[in-house]
Formats: sequence, C-alpha cells, structure tokens
Amino acid sequence: MKPLHARSYQILTIILSVILLALVGKFFLGSSTSQAQDGREMITLTTSEAAHIRGEMRHFLTAIQQISQGIAENNMGRVAEAATVVSTGKTHHAPITLMAKLPPEFRKLGFSLRSQFDEIATRAEAEEREAVLKQLSVLLERCNACHERFTLIGQK
Ligand code: HEC
Repeated sequence: MKPLHARSYQILTIILSVILLALVGKFFLGSSTSQAQDGREMITLTTSEAAHIRGEMRHFLTAIQQISQGIAENNMGRVAEAATVVSTGKTHHAPITLMAKLPPEFRKLGFSLRSQFDEIATRAEAEEREAVLKQLSVLLERCNACHERFTLIGQK
C-alpha cells in the first residue's frame, strides 16, 4: 500500500490527463454546429469571436479588390503585395478558443484559402499574369464553397 499522498497524486494526474485529452479532442474535432433556417451549418460563437471572423473576411475582400486592380493595371507587384497580407506566412492571431469552436471542415477551407493566396503571390512574383487570373477564379470558388455551407452567429 502506497502512502496516501502518493495515491492522491496518481489520481490527480489521471484526472488532469483526462481533462487535457478532452481539450485536445475538442480542438481537433471542433464544435458541433446546428442547422440554420436557410439549411446551412450554423457555428455559434461569442460576439467578439464572430466579429473577429467577419473582420478577417473583410480583409479577404480587400485583398481580392487589390488583386483584381493589380491584374487590370498589369501591376504584379501590387498583386503579390495584396496576396501576401492574407497568406499563410502571416500570423493572424485567431485565439485558440475560437479555433477550437470551428468545425474541422471550416478550418480546412480557411487554411486552403490562405494557401491559394500564397500561390497567387508566387505567380505574381514570377510575373505570370494569366496564371494569377486563373488562380483568382479558383480562389473565389473557395469563398463560395464555404459561404454556401456555413453561417455563423455571435452570442453574448
Ligand atoms: C472557411 C469558410 C470561409 C471562407 C473560405 C470564406 N468565408 Fe467569408 N464568411 C464566412 C462566414 C461563415 C461568414 C458569415 C456568413 C453569415 O453570417 O451568414 C462570412 C462572411 C463574409 C463577409 C461578410 C463580412 C461582414 O462584415 O459581415 C465577407 C465580405 C466575406 N465573407 C468575404 C469572403 C471572401 C472574399 C472570401 C474568399 C477570398 C471568403 N469570404 C472566404 C466563411 C468563409
């Protein structure tokens, strides 16, 4: 028989491991979604988390505007610059608690969107205007794919 305090430590370690596993599991599985009235998957967030996502979205739209202007003006430097702002290489400061609430498919679409911006930046740096244009259309499909599937609500 071990001394009582040693057993308490063992029990505490087990409890903490279970909590840790649950948190890690929650992060990888994401939160469950409910169905919105229009049939899309509704992600429930706090007001500030929803504002964070919406703010990021407006950055995407700004990038798209600047990229298309760069293409129109045949200014690939401008295209590369605009795409880099929203690329994977930049830190985007999404709080981990917010990440944990996003469904895996949502995170995947978001990440793949950023790699599309990487691709645009690379093509623009190589002055491949046609390829940039094509890539932009592929990228806009990603915007649509996610918007058709997900909606969000900010509460509290
Ligand atoms: C991973 C999913 C996802 C991707 C990819 C995505 N969006 Fe969104 N976007 C959303 C969701 C969810 C909303 C909220 C929709 C709602 O409220 O019904 C949203 C909202 C927006 C809004 C409204 C922002 C506001 O202030 O209300 C804009 C603008 C927008 N997206 C632009 C874009 C553009 C441009 C792209 C592609 C370059 C894009 N989004 C890609 C998920 C995504």
